[in-house]
Amino acid sequence: MKIISDAFELKAYLKTITKRVGFVPTMGALHDGHLSLIKAAKKECKFVVVSIFVNPTQFLAGEDLAKYPSRDEADKKICSLAGVDLLFLPQVKDIYGSDEVSLMAPNVRGYVLEGATRPGHFNGVLTVVNKLFNIVSPDYAYFGKKDAQQLNLITLMVKQLFMSVKIVPVDTVRESDGLALSSRNIYLSVQERKEALKISRALYEASRMVNRKELAVDDIKEAMSKILEPLEIGYVEVLNRDFEIVQELEIGNTLILVEALVGTTRLLDNIWL
Ligand code: PAJ
Repeated sequence: MKIISDAFELKAYLKTITKRVGFVPTMGALHDGHLSLIKAAKKECKFVVVSIFVNPTQFLAGEDLAKYPSRDEADKKICSLAGVDLLFLPQVKDIYGSDEVSLMAPNVRGYVLEGATRPGHFNGVLTVVNKLFNIVSPDYAYFGKKDAQQLNLITLMVKQLFMSVKIVPVDTVRESDGLALSSRNIYLSVQERKEALKISRALYEASRMVNRKELAVDDIKEAMSKILEPLEIGYVEVLNRDFEIVQELEIGNTLILVEALVGTTRLLDNIWL
């Protein structure tokens, strides 16, 4: 596995690759969720690039940028064992200059849900993903459904900016008890880890209600909020796959999303029905 940290060196190197390039952007502290993206890329692409970059512009003041887990050596081993061909490991100075051209998230879709609790977060995500796409020029790029709003906005950016990369969504990987894997789970104490299970339980209950044809959005949200108690809820929302609010859900076109605070850790999860 080749490791490169300079963007221009990486661009020059990738010019020599004629095979289909698959790309998995990450912020490191790799877990089985990231690994399933890498596996999906390996299946469809002859050359797989992973980036590890803790992008400062997507963290708001007071968030966990400084303590975000960093495990470069373990991550390198994971990538190498997974058959990654090229690991891009840039420093902040390799990605950002001092007077930056800016890319803004859309006014509506970028400022609801995660964008409402973390205003400006998606400007940073879209900016860095745009830069990474320009550096890597991938044919396919892989993103987790776990970050549904991020996936939706990146898909929108690719469409609206006429980019030629194909975005491939990948299912959420969970622990056997239901907790969605996240690099932030390591912040949880043993007690908080138990409390966090309320999030996937609430989503499973929503799924059961839908299976019983109980499709009224208010009833689903109420049942979920009860299960989530006493966690502080960021949002519980039922949307269609275009991120529009609906009163009655349509099976096959529904996203149920939760953001909850467990201790001081903000966790996200969702289910696609
Ligand atoms: P990060 O949180 O490291 O996630 C990298 C990718 O892994 C994202 O596409 C995310 O949705 C996916 N992922 C995380 N947990 C997952 C799980 N349990 N199952 C499946 N996929 C999962 O998301 C980011 O980094 C950044 O915002 C980034 C896109 C790299 C831009 O900085």
